[in-house]
Amino acid sequence: MERRNQVYEGKAKILYETDDPAYLIQYFKDDASAFNAKKLGSIESKGIFNNRISTRLFQEVEANGIPTHFVKNLSEREMLVKRVDIIMVEIVLRNVIAGNLAKRMGVEEGKRLPHPIIDLHLKNDALDDPLINEDTASAFDLGTREEMAQAREYALKVNDILMKFFAARNVDLIDFKLEFGRCAAEGGKMILADEITPDGCRLWEKGTGRKMDKDRFRRDLGNIEATYAEVDRLVTS
Ligand code: TMP
Repeated sequence: MERRNQVYEGKAKILYETDDPAYLIQYFKDDASAFNAKKLGSIESKGIFNNRISTRLFQEVEANGIPTHFVKNLSEREMLVKRVDIIMVEIVLRNVIAGNLAKRMGVEEGKRLPHPIIDLHLKNDALDDPLINEDTASAFDLGTREEMAQAREYALKVNDILMKFFAARNVDLIDFKLEFGRCAAEGGKMILADEITPDGCRLWEKGTGRKMDKDRFRRDLGNIEATYAEVDRLVTS
């Protein structure tokens, strides 16, 4: 598949057209951002690790019944994906209190929730990705009630799949963010898009609680590259 014009550049990835309008090439950069792009930096080889991690995790969820945009791995930093129109709602699923939920509720991080919480956020850095709900998504034509219900169902299923996957590797899946898109080539069907990587998940080592995700960058905890490399090894072995 030939790489053509760039169609989109985000904080961590670039999307290119190919010679087939139904497919794009997703290129993973080393750039890192946090707090909706207010903190910027770079993590050496992150693009390589995240391409591999995302490939493996998309394969895992796809094999367990979740439709995704992933088609195949093309190179160290590139994967072939189905072209979708991204739904501008981020689906965040939480198993354990951390990050924004701890802040919002005025509690410490670390307590396991009695059941997963799904938060919806508007995908808009300039507005700091504000928390929204299904009514807002529907009223502002971001996603229909049916799509949001489907996204919720998929997120819960992805959670079951990935919790099991990471538990087998001695890692606790604390929370994660998903993005979905509508695939025109498949009649507007909603499929999982974007990436599944330590940039958009919280992963804590079981037993010790050691952070193995982008919080090491957000909070200046050090060992950032080594931790992404470690997650890559765990996930792909
Ligand atoms: P939060 O605690 O900051 O809301 O984040 C929860 C999880 O979702 C965490 O693993 C990071 C991820 N996330 C993103 O990757 N991008 C986002 O824009 C948001 C809101 C969350």
